[in-house]
Amino acid sequence: MSRKPAGIDHVHAAAAPMAGLTAWQYLIDLGHSEPNPFQAEKHRPVPLDGKSVLVNGAAGGVGHLAVQLAKWKGAHVIAVASSKHERFLRDLGVDEFIDYTKSAPEDVVRGVDLVLDTFGGPTTGRFLRTLKRGGALFPVYPLGFSGADEAAKLGVTVSATQVRSNGSQLAELGRLFEHDKVRVAIDSTFALADAQKAHERAARGRLQGKIVLTIA
Ligand SMILES: NC(=O)c1ccc[n+]([C@@H]2O[C@H](COP(=O)([O-])OP(=O)(O)OC[C@H]3O[C@@H](n4cnc5c(N)ncnc54)[C@H](OP(=O)(O)O)[C@@H]3O)[C@@H](O)[C@H]2O)c1
Repeated sequence: MSRKPAGIDHVHAAAAPMAGLTAWQYLIDLGHSEPNPFQAEKHRPVPLDGKSVLVNGAAGGVGHLAVQLAKWKGAHVIAVASSKHERFLRDLGVDEFIDYTKSAPEDVVRGVDLVLDTFGGPTTGRFLRTLKRGGALFPVYPLGFSGADEAAKLGVTVSATQVRSNGSQLAELGRLFEHDKVRVAIDSTFALADAQKAHERAARGRLQGKIVLTIA
């Protein structure tokens, strides 16, 4: 029996496209051959079944979908977020939770196969030491990464991509929503006329899932 009230699928599917495709293209299948503005090599997702995957920024738009896709593919998932998201993320099925305001994940985790860092930016290189040799660091916001030499020394692949629209991937995501394998969390909802308030909510951060704009 579905847990969702009538009509919610449409809202969920509509709330998720870019974040869902981002998680999909980083983790499951790139699905396009557009030039990558961040790196010469094509981004290649890595196997997830039976692997350990740490997701930083796990409660956000990309992160909460990424943890579910990684679980769906059979990974052991370590979610990193602030404490208010712990229950939410455990409900989504994560195996471990780290509150980054209490302990630095890069100091307490070792030997994982993959780090998906949705927070990213110049600090993403701190996760290199969290990975095993042969592991991969995928910064979703890769600008500012400066650890290429250290990554080469540690035998870690660092790779990013820029999301592209993809109808067949959206259809596959839609099927996962339909069958309750993946769900989209709604952080907050605003009428289109209040779009400014939605931007203000986004600017405050600490999002849990996606912001929805409704059209009457
Ligand atoms: N490469 C691409 O094609 C692509 C596509 C989409 C998005 N992006 C980029 O990816 C990033 C994430 O997007 P999003 O939509 O998922 O953002 P979001 O919904 O705003 O989520 C960001 C999450 O980061 C967490 N966070 C904030 N400070 C943190 C810290 N110091 N350490 C760990 N987590 C922290 C927040 O949760 P807490 O409450 O736990 O702090 C929040 O849930 C953005 O920079 C966006 O521009 C890139």
